[in-house]
Amino acid sequence: MKITFYGHSTFGIEISGKLIIIDPFISGNPLASHIDINALQPDYILISHAHQDHVLDVEWLAKQSDALIISNFEIVSHYESKGFKGMSLNHGGTVGFDRFSVKYVKAVHSSSFADGTYGGEPGGFVISSKEKSLYYAGDTALTYDMKLIPLYAALDAVILPVGDIFTMGYEDAAMASDFVECPKVIGCHFNTFPPIQIDTEIAKDYFSALNKELVLLEIGTCLEI
Ligand code: NI
Ligand code: MN
Repeated sequence: MKITFYGHSTFGIEISGKLIIIDPFISGNPLASHIDINALQPDYILISHAHQDHVLDVEWLAKQSDALIISNFEIVSHYESKGFKGMSLNHGGTVGFDRFSVKYVKAVHSSSFADGTYGGEPGGFVISSKEKSLYYAGDTALTYDMKLIPLYAALDAVILPVGDIFTMGYEDAAMASDFVECPKVIGCHFNTFPPIQIDTEIAKDYFSALNKELVLLEIGTCLEI
């Protein structure tokens, strides 16, 4: 499983030749100006919630790739009404494909489109392939529900927000890593906007002191798990 960071909370996940893009927000992120969005041909687009910093490039990517949009019922209905193809889930639901499955799990956050339209209940995704499993928490606070995740999958890595203010910060992310029983944390949702600036060295040291690893990928770089 190859994980590429495209800035903010946008990741590409490659599993056996299939590309999943999660929460595409590239064209609106000056820190990701070196990413060529036209080169991305996802087979699937996963959306955790409807906030603009997670859906901005959904239509662009879906148009150029014909990707299947996977999210909650309200978000998928929104895109289906515009002619895109989607598959809707709600909390607890799992959809299986040839090479992997995706389970939609709870996030503690909010979810509305830029025009204020209700965007359904926010969530995260447990992505399981034969070899590896990954949990993408989405925008969320630390929540006790995370203790359910290891019952679903033995995680090889977890993607957690660490920027604080709109989501949990890195200290809570370290606790979340305990809840999900995975010491390898890939951080996201930090440094994109002034309110979520963090000192990345302090955050990484905080994890190291707890015998955990906080991976903060440079935008455009990847990690194989
Ligand atoms: Ni959000
Ligand atoms: Mn966000």
